[in-house]
Amino acid sequence: MNQPATSASDRPRPAYSAWLGTSNSITQQFMAIGGMKDVVSLAGGLPAAEFYPVAEIAEASRKALERWGSAALEYGPIEGLPALREHIARRISLQAGRQFTAANVLLTVGAMQGLDLIGKVLVDPGELIVTQTPAYVGALDGWRPRQPRYEPLDWGNGSPEALAALRRAKFAYAVPNYSNPTGALVPTAARQALLDSVMETGTWLVEDDPYLPLQFDGEAGPSILALHGRMEPDGPYAGPVIYLGTLSKSIVPGMRVGWAIAEAGMIQTMALAKQSSDIASSMLTQAVALELLESGIEETHVPRIVAEYRHRRDVLCASAARHLGEWFEWETPPGGMFVWMKARDGAIDTDALYQAALREKVAFVPGSVFDPAGLDRTAMRVNFTRSSPEIIEEGCRRLAAAVRRYLAER
Ligand SMILES: Cc1ncc(COP(=O)(O)O)c(C=O)c1O
Repeated sequence: MNQPATSASDRPRPAYSAWLGTSNSITQQFMAIGGMKDVVSLAGGLPAAEFYPVAEIAEASRKALERWGSAALEYGPIEGLPALREHIARRISLQAGRQFTAANVLLTVGAMQGLDLIGKVLVDPGELIVTQTPAYVGALDGWRPRQPRYEPLDWGNGSPEALAALRRAKFAYAVPNYSNPTGALVPTAARQALLDSVMETGTWLVEDDPYLPLQFDGEAGPSILALHGRMEPDGPYAGPVIYLGTLSKSIVPGMRVGWAIAEAGMIQTMALAKQSSDIASSMLTQAVALELLESGIEETHVPRIVAEYRHRRDVLCASAARHLGEWFEWETPPGGMFVWMKARDGAIDTDALYQAALREKVAFVPGSVFDPAGLDRTAMRVNFTRSSPEIIEEGCRRLAAAVRRYLAER
């Protein structure tokens, strides 16, 4: 990864930056695999494209251009379209049970940009991030250029060791609702315990919440931001939680509209960092997002996709029980997009299995990319939202063939 390509006549060119030596291209790979017609991809974290509300987005785009005219086509304010910031502030105030204003909202290019900006503003090389483990690969990728160290997050016992780790850390990172990659829902008591610990240690807490709308069995827990609202319901928000939201999983990922909620000073600092990332993100998609949210699209669209995703999850779990149960175990996730399958036999190496799976024309994401150290090869992440039930069945059959091939060739 560290040497740029040169042709025979070229002198060697300067090396790529050192952090790339520790990078991986798994996201690029599974985006590319998703486009290969003969491969069943259970890899990406993508919604079902056949449910994208194309007509509604066309209508919202027309209305947005009518409403904003050329203002929707400008660079625009770095913090984002003011009317959408205000809309998001009202929505979060309702969700969190305390008052937020537009000053607490930064509109981002998906939640991913929020993660990137947090790395930019908080982490210098060698500094510590305490993270829920396994951790979202995009966050690890986003922070890699900052060259952080990682320690696993201890959710709740407030032990001296856990508090000491938080004290040393720049921030804690968590996805309490239907985590990527495990689909796990963190109990409210553990969320509260973590909040108590970060309040005590003064650490920032990044709460990344893209899967909130995808609730299949029961409800998601109160966000940690809302738990903080119960502790400090009044006055300008000054809490340690930096909360990230997005329209990617509930409406469409291609609009690239997300938001960061934080105390006003952090929002201003992230906006400063954002200037050098993209000058300003698209006013056009933010204006379209505003139309969609004002039209109440989520009230009709989200229940439709949730019903279908619940069914697909059940199809995956039932099919995996038939085809893969001998080698893998998992817990049925109560929401989100993924089943986290752990090898029963410690000798199954899911990095190697991934190669065998590609030869059987099926893809998953190997667990090692969710391990900050890149070492854990005992699990795989399998997506159930993108593919139809029939394709999911076929994917499980191919995965079983891949396991047999892998075990025979090992
Ligand atoms: C936990 C988590 N955070 C952030 C993101 C990024 O989402 P967005 O499309 O909003 O950038 C994802 C997408 O898969 C995710 O799973």
